Amino acid sequence: MTRLADPFGRTIDYLRVSVTDRCDLRCSYCLPEGFRDFDEPDHWLTFEEITRVVAAFAALGTRRVRLTGGEPLVRRDLPRLAGRLAALPGVEDLSLSTNATRLAKQAGALYAAGIRRLNVSLDSLDPDTYRRITRGRLDKVLAGLMAAREAGFAPIKINMVVMRGVNDHEVEDMLAFCLEHGFTLRFIETMPVGDTGRAASDRYVDLREVRARLERRYELIPAHMPGGGPARYVQVAGTGLRIGFITPLSQHFCATCNRVRLAADGTLYLCLGQDDRYALRPLLRAGIDDAGLQEHIRRAIALKPERHEFRDAPEKVVRFMSQTGG
Ligand code: 5AD
Ligand code: SF4
Repeated sequence: MTRLADPFGRTIDYLRVSVTDRCDLRCSYCLPEGFRDFDEPDHWLTFEEITRVVAAFAALGTRRVRLTGGEPLVRRDLPRLAGRLAALPGVEDLSLSTNATRLAKQAGALYAAGIRRLNVSLDSLDPDTYRRITRGRLDKVLAGLMAAREAGFAPIKINMVVMRGVNDHEVEDMLAFCLEHGFTLRFIETMPVGDTGRAASDRYVDLREVRARLERRYELIPAHMPGGGPARYVQVAGTGLRIGFITPLSQHFCATCNRVRLAADGTLYLCLGQDDRYALRPLLRAGIDDAGLQEHIRRAIALKPERHEFRDAPEKVVRFMSQTGG
């Protein structure tokens, strides 16, 4: 079977596809307030171009694809793209990461298109705190989440970036919320990506501390989540609730990294925490054939760095997280 292997022997079988760098929110750790300097839409890969790249990855052994942004639902007709990607031979798992502000209207169409798994960013259950962090409205997100559950998405994972003095007091509330609605909960450590991410690092919380705090109230047993990626999971004993800890800073997981990221402009980013990249758009627009495209993808994967340096060189990544979708 075809397999993409990087120089460190890791198999790359997961592609994250950012369909736009735009977002309707301005999460403090991601985008500056008032930020408008987004890429030109004519730099974005078309649905046809995205489909070609994903097909080339699938031919090289990629089985899992996630749509991200910015906020992917601000790209018009996303369900049409999702339908095309879900139908590609080799693509077994198509998922979506969203802030859910626009999910209420689109959940049904996205499910019908073949997306099954959903990650939703939700850092607070308090409307004022939510607004302070994201500049957005919590009620829209909650409506989106309920519509997604109705539509049949499973699992639905809530991603909460934990920040000291901002939302760290809400960890238990978020746990209760996820238990009530059957969502999976994932805590994330702030990453120094972009100036915004670095500024947020002042509020960094080591998630081992959160885990210890929860262990005083709940019995947590180690759990496995199929395709769980970098999160370490536990289950709350006596419940179906799973909690994941994503700890890029306190316990990095680069040794098992299986992914690369396609930005909306067709740049392939080899690591979230490094600047190594490979431009695919010029090749696509010069009419490269499928075999040529696959060859360039192999060359790109050969550039994948061993690990991020969030601790030792936090100044490295200047782009905002919205360019690569986390
Ligand atoms: N640190 C950690 N997580 C981040 N995200 C965005 N910026 C950062 C950062 N600096 C997360 C969001 C969302 C996902 C797309 O990436 O919370 O869940
Ligand atoms: Fe938008 Fe996600 Fe960045 Fe928040 S973290 S501003 S939702 S892209």
